[in-house]
Amino acid sequence: MTKVEAIIQVSKLDAVKDALHEVGVEGMTVFEARGHGRQKGHTEFYRGREYTVDLIPKVKLEIVVADEMAEKIVQAITSAARTGKIGDGKIFLSRIDEAIRIRNDERGDGALYAPAIRHGADRDLDGNRVATKIDIPLPADFIGGQSER
Ligand SMILES: Nc1ncnc2c1ncn2[C@@H]1O[C@H](COP(=O)(O)OP(=O)(O)OP(=O)(O)O)[C@@H](O)[C@H]1O
Ligand SMILES: [Mg+2]
Repeated sequence: MTKVEAIIQVSKLDAVKDALHEVGVEGMTVFEARGHGRQKGHTEFYRGREYTVDLIPKVKLEIVVADEMAEKIVQAITSAARTGKIGDGKIFLSRIDEAIRIRNDERGDGALYAPAIRHGADRDLDGNRVATKIDIPLPADFIGGQSER
C-alpha cells in the first residue's frame, strides 16, 4: 500500500476531492495546514490577496491506496490542483505496511476498498446501507470557509 500526502491550495480542495472520487478513492483524511515552500519569507497569493507572512494556509490530504492506484491518484491531484503559479503544493508518497478496518478486522487492500461494491450500489456485502458519495460539510470555520456542501 502507498500513502499519498498532498499539500494543496485551499481553494482546490473541492476540485481535488471530486477528482479523487472519480478515480475510485474510497477514503481520505483532510487536515488544515500551514506551511511554506522554497519562497519562504516571500509573498504569495491566498484568496486573491498578497501575503508576506511565511506560513500560508494550505490543505493537506492523506490517502492510503493500493500500490497500483498511486500513479493515477498523483495524476488526479496534479491535474485538479495545478494553477501553474507558485505555491500549488506538493505530493509525497510513502510505503504503508498495514491497514486494518476496525469494524471487522479486514487487513491490507481489503481494509481500503469494498471490491464487490459496484459504484452506485447502496448496500455493502453485509446488506448494510452505505453512502455512495461521502460529502460531509466541513465546519464553517474551516480555513477557506468551504462549508457550502
Ligand atoms: N519539502 C517539504 N516538506 C514538507 N512540506 C512541504 C515541502 N515543500 C513544500 N511543502 C508544503 O507544501 C506547501 C506548498 O509548497 P510550494 O508549492 O510552495 O512548494 P515550492 O517548492 O515552493 O514550489 P513552487 O516554486 O511551485 O512554489 C508549503 O506551504 C508546505 O506546506
Ligand atoms: Mg512555493
